[in-house]
Formats: sequence, structure tokens, C-alpha cells
Amino acid sequence: MIRVRNLHKTYKNGVKAVDGLSFKVKEGEIFALLGPNGSGKSTTINILLSLLTYDEGEVLVFGSEMKPSSYDKKKDIGLVSQEVAVFNELTVYENTDYFCSLYISDKEKRKELVMKALKLVGLEDYLKFKPKKLSGGLLRRLHIACGIAHEPKLIIFDEPTVGIDPQSRNHILEGIKTLNKEGATIIYTSHYMEEVEMISDYVLIMDHGKVVAEGTKEELKDMISLGETITVSVLNITDEFLKELKGLKGILETTTNKDKLTIKIKKNTTKIKDILALLEKHKLEYDEFHSLAPTLNDVFLELTGKELRD
Ligand SMILES: Nc1ncnc2c1ncn2[C@@H]1O[C@H](COP(=O)(O)OP(=O)(O)OP(=O)(O)O)[C@@H](O)[C@H]1O
Ligand SMILES: [Mg+2]
Repeated sequence: MIRVRNLHKTYKNGVKAVDGLSFKVKEGEIFALLGPNGSGKSTTINILLSLLTYDEGEVLVFGSEMKPSSYDKKKDIGLVSQEVAVFNELTVYENTDYFCSLYISDKEKRKELVMKALKLVGLEDYLKFKPKKLSGGLLRRLHIACGIAHEPKLIIFDEPTVGIDPQSRNHILEGIKTLNKEGATIIYTSHYMEEVEMISDYVLIMDHGKVVAEGTKEELKDMISLGETITVSVLNITDEFLKELKGLKGILETTTNKDKLTIKIKKNTTKIKDILALLEKHKLEYDEFHSLAPTLNDVFLELTGKELRD
């Protein structure tokens, strides 16, 4: 669906937003661009759609070069931009119908498509509302309906869940999964690794306009040395215990915060039972023992040395 090769973009103020980026998006997948604020996600998306020019590289959409005048391609792409853009004087229904009419001229067909989109985002009870009367989450959902009503085969969501309530967030994530099941290819940008973890098939982690790592979630987690993170509440942790714990094989890091002990362990080294045995040996009382698999945040942290979160 998309092939980007060696893309470079420097803004007029000298900020290098995209720095030699290459990637492919395959038909039918949910492709996530995961990166912290300012890593170049929106710049990349806007270049894909020819809304922004670029300095160097190649951008192929549906097999050929994307140009500002590629209207035939644009009708097959839905963009849900990071900034909400709807008409305040039009109702929920009229807004969605307007954006749909840019691509679909048949009025009857449009009625069906508009209602389908509004149902998908859960706005069917708000058809006559004007945007100013909607909460932030509902407004985001309207923005999404406007971007997808014409049933494009490629849909790009640029941080569609920033700053909204959990209910709207779940609605949006479920809606994206439904659109994908119905056949749409999805590109999804986010700096929330939990969301990316939840919905994507393939993840490209970017930072400073470059690829940090890419692959399926499993492939990404295989790239790092961290195997599991153990958290446990221990009463009266002793220095002797900590010393012996740190001496076990593959202990990458131990941190204590009051009673809470966090242990990061390298793959295929120390096992849970070894830690439990050590607690018993030191006759320490413990509670709330949890073993956590690596997250995409751990992948980002290990590969870049910094947290993905704000
Ligand atoms: N129009 C612009 N002019 C100059 N610099 C810009 C412009 N737009 C973005 N930048 C800068 O380019 C870099 C990449 O920005 P971009 O918006 O692509 O990142 P992002 O990953 O989408 O971030 P966010 O998560 O905040 O949306 C940032 O340093 C940003 O400040
Ligand atoms: Mg952005």
C-alpha cells in the first residue's frame, strides 16, 4: 500500500523532522507509528498525503508516486488528522455528509455511508448537535466519522485519542479494529504504547525522525535483553538480601521504593522460583508478587535509553 524510502524533511526553521526514514505498509494490516512527542510522526503522515513537501527520498502510495494532484488516490485514503477540523455551523450529520460528499456524489448512497460512520463512532444519538455542544471525546469521534465515511481502503489516524475520556478512547479503538476487519488498511500514530500494543499488527518505533526498531510486537520484544520484570512487596528488606539478589544470574536492575521491590531480569536466566527461594532463605515476609512481560515501553527504553511516556 505504501513504500517510503530514505525520506528526509527539514523545516524552514532548520528542524530536521524526518531523517532518512524507510518503511512499508502492507495491505490489510494495522501499522503503528509509535514515537514520543516531536519524533516526526505527523510530518511523515502529512508527506504521505502530499500535504507537505519533502527534501529527499521516495514516497509510493498504491504503487506509484503521490503528488498533490493525485485525486484518484486521495479518494481511497481517509485522513483523521491530529487537529480536529469540522465546521461549527454544521450539525454532526451535516459535517459528516459534507466530507463524504467530497468523494461520493450519489445522495442515497451517501445517506447510508454517513449513518454507518456515525454508528461506528457511536454518534447516532447526536445527529442534530452542533460541534460546540459536544464534549471533547464526542468531537473527536465526529472528526473520525468525517474522515472515514467515504469508506477509503487506507485510513490514517494521527493520534486520535489524545486528551479524551476512556469511554471515547475505547469506542475509537474498537471502531478502528472494526474498520480493519471490514478490509481497510490502517496507519495509526500514537505515543501511547498501551494502545499500540492493543491494536496493531506491525509497529515502527521512531525517534528524531529515524527508525529505532520495527517488527511485530513479539519481534520487537525479542530484540531486547529484558525477559521479565518482577514486582513484589517485601517487609523489612535487608541489605544482605539485596546483595545476594543482585548476585543472581541476569539481574539487570533492582529498585526499591518503600516496601516495593522491582527486579528486571534478563531472558533465560534467573527464574521466579530462584527469587522466591531467596526470599524464603532470608525469612522475609512478602506479598503481591507479580511477573510482568516486557512492554513496548521497555523496548523503547532499552533501545534509546529513555522513556516513551510524557
Ligand atoms: N510547521 C513546522 N515548522 C517547523 N517545525 C515543525 C513544524 N511542524 C513540526 N515541526 C517540528 O518538527 C519535529 C517533528 O514534529 P511532528 O509534529 O512531526 O512530530 P510528532 O511525532 O507528530 O509529535 P506529536 O506527538 O507532538 O504530535 C518537532 O521538532 C516539531 O517541533
Ligand atoms: Mg503529531
